[in-house]
Amino acid sequence: MTKILVCYHSRSGTTERMAEEIVKGIQERDVEVDLYKVEEVNLNFLPDYDALILGSPTYYGGPSAEMKSFIDKSIKFHGKLEWKVGGAFASSANPAGGNETTVMGLIESMLIHGMIVKGMPKGDHYGPVVIGEADERELKQCRFYGNWMAELTEGVSGWISKK
Ligand SMILES: Cc1cc2nc3c(=O)[nH]c(=O)nc-3n(C[C@H](O)[C@H](O)[C@H](O)COP(=O)(O)O)c2cc1C
Repeated sequence: MTKILVCYHSRSGTTERMAEEIVKGIQERDVEVDLYKVEEVNLNFLPDYDALILGSPTYYGGPSAEMKSFIDKSIKFHGKLEWKVGGAFASSANPAGGNETTVMGLIESMLIHGMIVKGMPKGDHYGPVVIGEADERELKQCRFYGNWMAELTEGVSGWISKK
């Protein structure tokens, strides 16, 4: 069965709320999902997943040190995450406070791992973002993203199994 890991860092709860909504969207499909705080996730299980979705608050325009540390430790599996699906989400205090650069920072590491990352033509193009306290539009976008990532991962893992 297709299996997705949603892993996030959150100090004051906003990114955590996003992660929970993304999980709800994933669960609308026949896909298994694990949700972990970055400080609790077991890195050793990373290769078991078909997709990795990372979420971070924006700290000075990029991912938090906690999330960056997780990414740096993922070098242990460099080459083993190729062809897996990747996605990212971020929260920030300000509208132009760097949430998109944070999403892109997370995605950059996924590209280096050789993962498959797809943009969205509608809504939040790079991945969902929340500014300040999450509103209903933003949470809906998170659920949509979760469902859409699950659909993408199902398709990609079906293709990989035949490759
Ligand atoms: C160290 C630090 C740096 C931050 N840098 C930014 C920033 O560059 N731009 C911004 O809009 N918000 C910034 N913020 C605000 C957080 O990104 C924002 O409050 C976020 O939603 C917190 O997420 P969390 O509730 O999941 O911890 C910063 C907060 C901290 C603690």
